[in-house]
Amino acid sequence: MPLAHRCFALVLLAATAASGHDPERSASNPNARYEPLVVPDRIVLTWTGDPATSQAVTWRTAALGHDAVAEIAVAGDGPKFVANAERVEATTQTLDADLGKAEHHTAVLTKLKPNTKYAYRVGYGGYWSEWAQFTTASDEPEPLRFVYFGDAQNSIKSMWSRVVREAYADAPRADFFLHAGDLVNRANSDVEWGEWFYAGSHVNRMIPVLATPGNHEQSGGRLSRHWRPTFAFPTNGPEGLEETCYFLDVQGVRLISLDSNRDHEEQAAWLRKVLEENDQRWTIVTYHHPMYSSGNGRDNPHLRKLWQPLFDEFGVDLALQGHDHTYARTGLVTTADNVPGGARVRDEQGGGTVYVVSVSGPKMYKLQQRDIVKRSAENTQLYQIVTVDGDELHYEARTATAKLYDAFTLKKQNGKPNELVERIPE
Ligand SMILES: [Fe+2]
Repeated sequence: MPLAHRCFALVLLAATAASGHDPERSASNPNARYEPLVVPDRIVLTWTGDPATSQAVTWRTAALGHDAVAEIAVAGDGPKFVANAERVEATTQTLDADLGKAEHHTAVLTKLKPNTKYAYRVGYGGYWSEWAQFTTASDEPEPLRFVYFGDAQNSIKSMWSRVVREAYADAPRADFFLHAGDLVNRANSDVEWGEWFYAGSHVNRMIPVLATPGNHEQSGGRLSRHWRPTFAFPTNGPEGLEETCYFLDVQGVRLISLDSNRDHEEQAAWLRKVLEENDQRWTIVTYHHPMYSSGNGRDNPHLRKLWQPLFDEFGVDLALQGHDHTYARTGLVTTADNVPGGARVRDEQGGGTVYVVSVSGPKMYKLQQRDIVKRSAENTQLYQIVTVDGDELHYEARTATAKLYDAFTLKKQNGKPNELVERIPE
C-alpha cells in the first residue's frame, strides 16, 4: 500500500476507534444492533413519584456529551399538538458498558394532569425518537390493571418476545407491566439488556415498567451496573437500596418492591414503617426469591422469618415473585402455615397473603409440590393480568399462547380478612 494510502487508513482507523463505530465490523457482528447510537433507544417509562401527576422517561444514546431533553404535550387528534410541546431537561448517567460507553438520560415530567393522554419524544438536535403516548393515572381509586411477569432471563429475544407481546395484545390498556426479577441472565451483558428492550420494543414507551432486581441482576455481590442508569424508580427505600427497594401508590394500591438479594433485616424495619403508614385499600409486594420455593433445595427461610410476619400483621394482599422457573400459586397463607412438612393446620379463611411464583422466559425447573399451592405448572411460560376494581382483585394467569391457566378473585370484607374465591379453569 502506498504511504499516502497507509496514512489515510491509519487516520480512518483512529477516527472509527474514537467514535467506537466500524461499519464493516458492525455489518458482520450480530450484536452491533445493541450498540449505543446517537439516536435514542432503550426508551422506557417508569415512575419516580405520583403516577397521577408525573412520569419519568429514560433512554440511551452513545456517549457524545450532547444535551438530552424530552418534549411533552397533551396528545391531540391531529398533528398540531407538537406546537404546544414543553421541553424538560434530562439528567444523564454515563455507563461504561461492554458494547461501548453509553449515556442514559432521565427526564422526569411533572405537573401533569391526572387521567390525561400525553405525547412525548426524547432526543437532541436532529436526533429524536418518534412521538409516543402514555396516559397518567387517576388521582382517585379507579380500576387498575397490570401485567406481572416472572423471570425472562434466557434467550430473551428468541423466546421471551412472544410472551411480552402476547401479554400486550391481551392487556393493551394495562396501567403498567411488573417484572419480578431476573430480566436478564448476565447482569452486565449489554447484549442481554438490548434483547430485553428488543422484545418489549415500543410497549415500554407506552406502558410504564415496574421491576425488582433478581439474583441475575447481581454480579460479584453488587447490583448490575445497568440497573440504575436504565430505570428511574423511586428512591424512597433504605439508603443504599435506592431504586431496588421502594414503594409507590397508584389508584388505591400501594406497590412495594423489596430487594430480596440483600439487607433483609434493614428492609424489614423499612417495610414496617411503609405498611404502618399505608392508607391505600390494597397492598401488593414484589421481590424475586419466593417465600415458599417451588423448587427443591431453594428454600428462603430468612424471608419467612423477617418479612412474612409483617405481611400477616398488615394484611399484604398479594406477593408476586420469581426465581423458581415454575408456576406455583398459593391460597391465603400466613406464618401459621409454616409447619414442618408443609401440612395445612389452619382454616384458610383466617386471612393471609396469596403468594405467586411465575416464569415468563424459557428456562424451566422441576416443580416441588406443596399442600398450600392451589395451582401449579411445569414447562410453561406465563404472564399474569391483575385487575384491582374497588373491593375486588381479579387475577388471571395466562400461558404463552394466551390460554387461561389460573384465576381467582380476592374480596375485601370490612373488618375481616380477604375472601378468596377460586376460579381455576377446567
Ligand atoms: Fe433467580
